[in-house]
Amino acid sequence: MTATKGLEGIVATTSSISSIVDGVLTYRGYDIDDLAVNAAFEEVAFLLWFGKLPDAGELEQLRAELSSYAAIPDELIAQMKLYPKEAGTMAALRSAVSALALYDNEADDMSREANERKAIKLQAQLPTIVATIARLRQGLDPVQPKEGVSIAENFLYMLSGKEPDAIAIKAFNQALVLHADHELNASTFAARVTVATLSDIYSGITSAIGALKGPLHGGANEAVAKMLDEIGSLERVESYITEKLNNRDKIMGFGHRVYKNGDPRAKHLQKMSRELGELNGNTTQYDMSVQIEDMITSRKGLKPNVDFYSASVYTQLGIERELFTPIFAVSRVSGWTAHILEQFEDNRLIRPRAEYTGPTNQKYVTPDQR
Ligand code: COA
Repeated sequence: MTATKGLEGIVATTSSISSIVDGVLTYRGYDIDDLAVNAAFEEVAFLLWFGKLPDAGELEQLRAELSSYAAIPDELIAQMKLYPKEAGTMAALRSAVSALALYDNEADDMSREANERKAIKLQAQLPTIVATIARLRQGLDPVQPKEGVSIAENFLYMLSGKEPDAIAIKAFNQALVLHADHELNASTFAARVTVATLSDIYSGITSAIGALKGPLHGGANEAVAKMLDEIGSLERVESYITEKLNNRDKIMGFGHRVYKNGDPRAKHLQKMSRELGELNGNTTQYDMSVQIEDMITSRKGLKPNVDFYSASVYTQLGIERELFTPIFAVSRVSGWTAHILEQFEDNRLIRPRAEYTGPTNQKYVTPDQR
């Protein structure tokens, strides 16, 4: 038995949800480039769950269901008010989603119908939970979700309590579409491993959120924003990045396990970052990002991934950086739940082996003789 570090190149399951072939990402056979410019996030969630784009009636029904589930239990809000204000936002999200199961009387119902319903509920409730975390951190009351508006619009509305403008809604919708699924990424794998024991969907999503939190995965977008803040101006990019490279530090938002010639999602976020900067009359973050990209690409041969330009996009949308990774979860919960449904369809326990490298032939001796 020989271990493959990080399971690189290991094909661990079959899946018909999303694929990455020759650097092209597709959801159910639709190129992400096509969906990013044309689709509403709700259509993409339906596509991931049910394998086809919804017709007008199905989309209307899904939107109504999402609206009807969007409020979170008062008991959960009361609990969340007790979370320390300085607690990490991903820790708060992980705790709140785990607690959500306590208030769902079909949490352990393993029928397909109940699991589909729970997938829709989780998709509806995650934006409300993240917005609630954001409001409570600022000492503000949570804003109740609105009826009859898109997830993108509702989320931005619940953050500020104000009507978001059409450009912000469009940009945020596109960011949600681009983050919705990504084959067997670390958090999706964590979700599938958890539910493959026939544990429930809430446990699967809680595991996924734990995996997403790390800076090598979803946590990278917050780390990019921190880096941009630390650099502060275009003039400081050269010296800051040179020092990081000399110290052999990783530059967050670059590199990818699967894409070696560039992440197909990054160009959409780059365009969005430039457009939002121009609209806001301040392209500093965008200009800094482009200069960082030039340096890292020429000196390290690494390309930006989905997290690099999403940082400046969210900043331009006026969102605080501690929410960037939770926002990733607001989108990716669509993919996680689709993968969980797929896992349940043809389940087998996921239990690989380890190549043992520890000592052998040890003999027990009592503590006083050690
Ligand atoms: N900055 C600097 N060097 C990097 C790098 C980065 N962001 N990403 C990879 N490298 C270098 C590694 O140091 C390594 O160099 P070495 O062979 O000289 O040691 C080489 O490229 C391979 O990287 P490795 O970390 O082994 O690749 P991986 O497939 O295990 O990891 C990532 C992939 C995404 C975890 C990795 O590229 C990374 O840490 N990126 C930054 C975090 C990030 O943006 N994550 C979000 C991913 S969507």
